[in-house]
Amino acid sequence: MIAEKLINETKQSEVINITSNNILLKKVYLESYGCAMNFSDSEIVASILKKEGFSTTNNIKDTDLILINTCSIRDKAEQTVKTRLRDLRKLKKNKPKLIIGVLGCMAERLKSSLLEEEKLVDLVVGPDAYRDIPKLIQDVEGGQKSVNVLLSREETYADIMPVRIASNGVSAFISIMRGCDNMCSFCVVPFTRGRERSRNPLTIIAETKDLFNKGYKEVTLLGQNVDSYKWKLSEENRIKNEKINNINFAQLLALVAEVSPELRVRFSTSHPKDMTDEVFHTMAKYDNICKYIHLPIQSGSDKMLKDMNRGYTNKWYLNRIDAINKILPNCSISTDIITGFCNETDEDHKATLDLMSKVKFDFAYMFYYSERPGTYAERKLSDNVVLEIKKKRLSEVIVLQHSHSLEKNKKTLGKTYKVLIEKQSKKSDKKLCGRNSQNAMIVFDKGKNKIGDYVDVIIEDCTTATLIGRVIKVSKN
Ligand code: 5AD
Ligand code: SF4
Repeated sequence: MIAEKLINETKQSEVINITSNNILLKKVYLESYGCAMNFSDSEIVASILKKEGFSTTNNIKDTDLILINTCSIRDKAEQTVKTRLRDLRKLKKNKPKLIIGVLGCMAERLKSSLLEEEKLVDLVVGPDAYRDIPKLIQDVEGGQKSVNVLLSREETYADIMPVRIASNGVSAFISIMRGCDNMCSFCVVPFTRGRERSRNPLTIIAETKDLFNKGYKEVTLLGQNVDSYKWKLSEENRIKNEKINNINFAQLLALVAEVSPELRVRFSTSHPKDMTDEVFHTMAKYDNICKYIHLPIQSGSDKMLKDMNRGYTNKWYLNRIDAINKILPNCSISTDIITGFCNETDEDHKATLDLMSKVKFDFAYMFYYSERPGTYAERKLSDNVVLEIKKKRLSEVIVLQHSHSLEKNKKTLGKTYKVLIEKQSKKSDKKLCGRNSQNAMIVFDKGKNKIGDYVDVIIEDCTTATLIGRVIKVSKN
């Protein structure tokens, strides 16, 4: 089997596990905003800094270096970071040697102007320049402010084993690609994260195996558009007697799933224009690949989809949904929706509501349009839907989605699911929670169970967001 062969070959892969012999002298406090990719990147940064003698801390008052990993996706995300930076002024005043750095998408978008805008910032580092952070810190220690926002066509940090920050020891993110080439007209990501590049599958498998050996039970493969993952194996790594040496996402998914049947595999984000039936068939073949797909639609109107440069129509999207329902009848589906995009009419908005009613998503992330500087939409289209209408349409979308989520959740009553316990419930220390394969959050009494266990839970009640159940069996794995 291709997968097994490749997994065995990873024993010789070039993954370097960065552990340091240095005495840990300095502390870094890392704070992340935005998408899972940012949280994953912070773990790469922690690994790079560990090699230089830094240990991570959760105590912001007892640190030499604060790094804020930022998000630019909507204006509100940037305002949140700016407010946070203002909060840090007092800390810096009391501790002048404290170094404050801004990483991620805002660093890339605003570049050195961030140093002008936010006087307390010493360091500005874009998503492809994290290997340079140790040198940049030295420059700051030498009295200079420093910036590196160079984007790369190659950097995937493939050789770096992330240091898991604030991990529950159960689930971890694995970045499989970086950047995005899709150029959706509303989106700033192609500008802040650069061109799309995939990561060597050998290093992905090695990281997965390392996590599994450390006791992790679930990995989530991350990319802006995982369906366009591709890797051509070099001659020396070719799999003997196999014709397939170009790995696509479906094949990568199979390779990761074959690391162990006890390891759950999730992935995000899928793109409707690229998601193939091959991925659905791979999901069907492996029990441990979770039956959950996040498939952003953005709008139900073909006119909006065209202006958004999404590369598919309403009909195409519904065809993908039909294929999922046919090949994976127990799969849950979530989406992203934007209301009030440029020139959106009541009719376009209605097309979104109609599509939602046809699909009945299990869950949705819903936003109103926020114009981003430099994007096609900002340069060529008019942000002409007034805020009040954007918000009104958003609340209609939210109300409809909540009714669908509740309807879906009610259908689970009386059913039993295998749940991987992730954490204590926020509302009660006598309760635990975890997700089923379909990504629904399930809360139940703690009993003798602990984080990292698999349990069979029967669902007895639900809200729009949560299933409430009772453990009926502790699973073997
Ligand atoms: N305004 C509002 N929402 C946006 N998204 C991306 N860019 C914008 C924007 N300018 C949403 C999309 C995307 C999700 C990650 O964020 O729905 O899928
Ligand atoms: Fe942005 Fe579109 Fe790329 Fe997603 S696929 S990151 S929305 S450009």
